[in-house]
Amino acid sequence: MGKVVVAARLPGRIDEILAGHRVVAPAAGEAELPRARLVEELRDADGLLALLKLRVDDALLDGAPKLRVVANYAVGYDNVDLAATARRGIVVTNTPGVLTDATADLTMALMLAAARRLPEGAAMIRDGRWHGWEPEQLPAMDLDGAQLGVLGLGRIGQAVARRARGFGMRVVYAQPRPAAAEVAAALEARAVGVDELFATSDVVTLHCPLSPVTRHLVNAARLAAMKPRAVLVNTARGAIVDEAALVAALAGGALGGVGLDVFEDEPRVHPGLIACARAVLMPHLGSSTVGARTAMAETAARSIADVLAGRRPAHVVGGDAVAVHER
Ligand code: DGY
Repeated sequence: MGKVVVAARLPGRIDEILAGHRVVAPAAGEAELPRARLVEELRDADGLLALLKLRVDDALLDGAPKLRVVANYAVGYDNVDLAATARRGIVVTNTPGVLTDATADLTMALMLAAARRLPEGAAMIRDGRWHGWEPEQLPAMDLDGAQLGVLGLGRIGQAVARRARGFGMRVVYAQPRPAAAEVAAALEARAVGVDELFATSDVVTLHCPLSPVTRHLVNAARLAAMKPRAVLVNTARGAIVDEAALVAALAGGALGGVGLDVFEDEPRVHPGLIACARAVLMPHLGSSTVGARTAMAETAARSIADVLAGRRPAHVVGGDAVAVHER
C-alpha cells in the first residue's frame, strides 16, 4: 500500500483504481489541494497525480523523497522537469489519446469562429451596431479550398486535419520528421518547411509540444510572413507563440484573426488580446469534455496503480531515463 496525492477533485473511478492505497485528495468543497497542503502531503507520498499548472521540479521533488511516480493529468508535460525526475528514478506518465477528439473539436470551433469572424458579428448585435443585412458585412475567409498548415501532425494534428478535410481544406504540415506515408496519404497532406507553412497557409494551427526548440517558434518574423487575412489557432501551449509579437501583429492589422485556448502566462491573458475584436479566446478548455476529462483521470490513476504495483504503465514519458521501480 502506498500514499497517493491527487492534486485536484477529478471525475471517474479514481478511488476504485487506487483501492488499497491511501489517497489524499481535496476536501469536500475544495477544487484543488492548497499548495501548502500538497507540499506537506508529498513528504511521505509514493505517487502524485499532478495538474499541468504544477511545476514539478527540484524544488518540489526535494520535499518528496519517497515519490516513485508522477502522473500528469494532461498529454503535455512541459510542467515536469524530466531531468529532475530521472535523477530520482521517478516515473512520469501522461494521458495521450483520450483527449484527441475533444481538443480537435475545440480547435475547429476556434478556427471557424476566427475565420468566420464570430466575435465581431456577435459584438455588432450586442452593441446595437447591426442595422440589417448588407452585402459587404464582415466578409470572411472561404474555408473550402483554403490551405490549413498543421504544425505537428501527431494525434491531435491529424484529428484536426481530418476534420478540416471535411470542410474542403487542403492540408500541409511541418514537423521534424515526415509523417508515416499512410497518414500523409489518407489526409493528402504535404510536408513543407516551417517557414513555407507560415507563408502559404490561410489557417495555421499549432499542435507541437512546448520545448526549448518550440518556445516562441511563432515569432514576429513568422507572423509577418503570414498571409494578410490568415488565421492562427493555438490549442497546444501558449509559449509556442511570442504573445507580445502576436499582439503587435494584430494591432498592425497583420492577421485576419486568432483563436487561442492557451496563453503564455496562464491564467494571465495579454490585455492586447482581450482588447482585440478579432481574437477568439478560451480558458484552456481543449480537453474539457466529460468523456475526455474522465478518461484522463482514470488513465492517470491507472498509471500510478501500475507503478506502485511494479508494472510498467502505458504512457511513460521521458524515454529510457525513467524506469519502473522494483522497490
Ligand atoms: C493537455 O492535455 O496537455 C491539455 O493542455 C490539457 O488537457
